[in-house]
Amino acid sequence: MQHLAGKSVIITGAGRGIGAACARLLGRSGAKVVVNDVDPGAAEEVAAEVRANGGIAIAEVADITSYDAVGSMVARCVREFGSLDGLVNNAGLIILDLINEVKEDDLRRMVEVNVIGLSFCAMHASRQMIAQKSGSIVNVSSGAHTGAPTMSVYAAAKGAVATYTYSWAMELEQYGIRVNGLLPMADSRMRGITDGWRASKGLAPHPAAIVSADSNAPVVEFLLSDAARGVNGQLVKVTGSQLALMTHPAQLHPVLERPSWDFDAIDAVFRTEFAGKLQPLGTATLDVRVL
Ligand SMILES: NC(=O)c1ccc[n+]([C@@H]2O[C@H](COP(=O)([O-])OP(=O)(O)OC[C@H]3O[C@@H](n4cnc5c(N)ncnc54)[C@H](O)[C@@H]3O)[C@@H](O)[C@H]2O)c1
Repeated sequence: MQHLAGKSVIITGAGRGIGAACARLLGRSGAKVVVNDVDPGAAEEVAAEVRANGGIAIAEVADITSYDAVGSMVARCVREFGSLDGLVNNAGLIILDLINEVKEDDLRRMVEVNVIGLSFCAMHASRQMIAQKSGSIVNVSSGAHTGAPTMSVYAAAKGAVATYTYSWAMELEQYGIRVNGLLPMADSRMRGITDGWRASKGLAPHPAAIVSADSNAPVVEFLLSDAARGVNGQLVKVTGSQLALMTHPAQLHPVLERPSWDFDAIDAVFRTEFAGKLQPLGTATLDVRVL
């Protein structure tokens, strides 16, 4: 069944990996797809593949860190397809290093692509979606955002993507726009970059599961579809055969109250009430149920 029939969707970074897998599936699902990438050959190839399989797609070569280029991309989508119903904020960049060794330029580039570029896409897309009073945005974050040694800058940028998801979901709901997040996993070029860096440091390959980029695309298809009406501000983690919802940041109960908090009072609480409640680092998986 074509769950996205008639919907126009921009997928950033769709020239390879997870974005390309989404372009292929969304094309088969009836969406009119703007295949964005900074790499012209890759974008053209994926768009041609979607068309060869009977879908509708155009390649849009643009660097999402250019505010004007992103504006032109959204305008072209509306001009050629009549609307912008979905944005898959997928383009991303990883450069690994320990925080004491990371290079200034690498840090800036990761923030620029993963946070600023993603923001530009949402800025332009949301204006169009607000005018339409409908739309769905899927922000591609990462499980790394809950804490990931050797990739802390990337993880922090993806944390910003998660936080953006909560805020935009709250801001845009009134206009009929839903914003959700994806924590994907794929044996993509990015995985090769990670394992290449680890090998250069004498480390074993990353322990994360090796799964195909294709396994992520059905979650995006669902979140963009009308079947996901009522799903807003959620982070969905897919790791091959496993699907999970992330909890949102929350205050642990009970919240303690007294007229004011001085050093001794705080120290006492950390030795008593909080002693057994310090949170584990990283993502906690509570339970796996085989369906
Ligand atoms: N691969 C994984 O296991 C994994 C895990 C968690 C999160 N992610 C996230 O999923 C997304 C896709 O990752 P992937 O593994 O397919 O990566 P990839 O490197 O295989 O593909 C990313 C694509 O984005 C494009 N791109 C990069 N910068 C761009 C820019 N400024 N403008 C436009 N396009 C740009 C690249 O040219 C490339 O085609 C990323 O946001 C990544 O952080 C991936």
